[in-house]
Amino acid sequence: MSLEDMRTPEGWEPDSWQRQAVSQLPVYENQAQLDAVLEELGRLPPLVTSWEVEALRARIAAAQRGECFILQGGDCAESFADCTSESIVSKLKILLQMSVVLIAGLKRPVVRIGRMAGQYAKPRSADSETREKVTLPSYRGDIVNRNVFSPADRVADPELMLRGYERSALTLNFVRALLDGGFADLHHPENWDLAWVSHSPQADEYHRIVQRVADGLDFFENITGETLGTARRVEFYTSHEGLHLYYEQAQTRFLPHRQCWYNLTTHFPWVGMRTASPGSGHLEYFRGIANPVAVKVGPGVTPERLLDLVSRLNPGNAPGRLTLIHRFGAGRIADELPPLVESLQAAGAVVLWMCDPMHGNTETTSDGRKTRRFDQILAELDAAFRVHGNLGSLLGGVHLELTGEHVTECTGGARGLTDADLGRDYRSQVDPRLNYEQAMEVAMRIAGFGQHRNG
Ligand code: PEP
Ligand code: CO
Repeated sequence: MSLEDMRTPEGWEPDSWQRQAVSQLPVYENQAQLDAVLEELGRLPPLVTSWEVEALRARIAAAQRGECFILQGGDCAESFADCTSESIVSKLKILLQMSVVLIAGLKRPVVRIGRMAGQYAKPRSADSETREKVTLPSYRGDIVNRNVFSPADRVADPELMLRGYERSALTLNFVRALLDGGFADLHHPENWDLAWVSHSPQADEYHRIVQRVADGLDFFENITGETLGTARRVEFYTSHEGLHLYYEQAQTRFLPHRQCWYNLTTHFPWVGMRTASPGSGHLEYFRGIANPVAVKVGPGVTPERLLDLVSRLNPGNAPGRLTLIHRFGAGRIADELPPLVESLQAAGAVVLWMCDPMHGNTETTSDGRKTRRFDQILAELDAAFRVHGNLGSLLGGVHLELTGEHVTECTGGARGLTDADLGRDYRSQVDPRLNYEQAMEVAMRIAGFGQHRNG
């Protein structure tokens, strides 16, 4: 990408979003305390570098050309309490395992992007919550306030931004050390085994796939006499919803050697559904940062609105810059996606299409728990590959909420979890995630769909 493509747009400044309508932001009572925290955050070092961000942009551009596939996944919301060795390792393991299945099935490289090291702010459908006649501000994620239902815990506390920044740094530091130390070496996939799943049907199938990949690698290295160095390390990137604009702005820097502004809290921030409406403060902020960015696209978005959004976020039509993550739900995707794909094709807009089969398929059970049905998730993925295939478009990645643990949050899958099973181990504070077995099953299904329908 040339610098020309990413010049700072007219009228944009890191805080120009503050002059637009902004939703989903907390109200801080003490302005002086907020200012002090933002000043401190701005002085602390960045979490990622522009070199990494630019490397990801090149990978997204390659995915747009069908040369690789993006796997983006992690918790709906990270929590400060879960910033532990076990939790980070198990997320990394599940993403690595899924990526091997996808590489074997899709026969192309897979770029892994965690919803991690910063996924701490959540959009909420209501600003407040009432329990037994007491009304308090909604919980908005650990970077804003606390989930406990008490007046003190629900106050938006600016200090939590510093705690979130630190937890993100700790997470990223551990991930980088694992990857640098050889944890992701394709020659040693046994590093990624999760002990307690060794007897599941997915694990057997997975081990067969890994063996095939390892044999291929051996074969290549034996006949060439060379060790494939690139198989020793994998690229791994971070992403989070760029919701908390105070936090995002504080770590937004002008880099003189590139002559543009980068958000250096993460490689790949995205705009969520609830903050992507025309004229929103969030779109204003995103228009001026040079990172590759994504926007969630769901029910009700018209071709006109999408074209407007694309022209604002990517006026130079730069490859790798813009990803659209569609999340319609299994029942709506076949009707609502085609006009959007066709309108961008007609306009010649270069975007990466990804499918989030989670957020359009959320249901509430009779006892009030949020869940998602595995069949619906698969049906949306299947429809996504079919729609893009029929239109000569390309589905270049998937975006999933998942965990490497054996939670019971989504129903269905090989073990046929029912609503009655959900109470057993429901841990998510926000949206229901695929558990280890469900996530592996999804990877296997994508590997199958993708082979037949996507190139
Ligand atoms: C999310 O990704 O957790 C989310 C809130 O998604 P969406 O903006 O698509 O609803
Ligand atoms: Co979610």
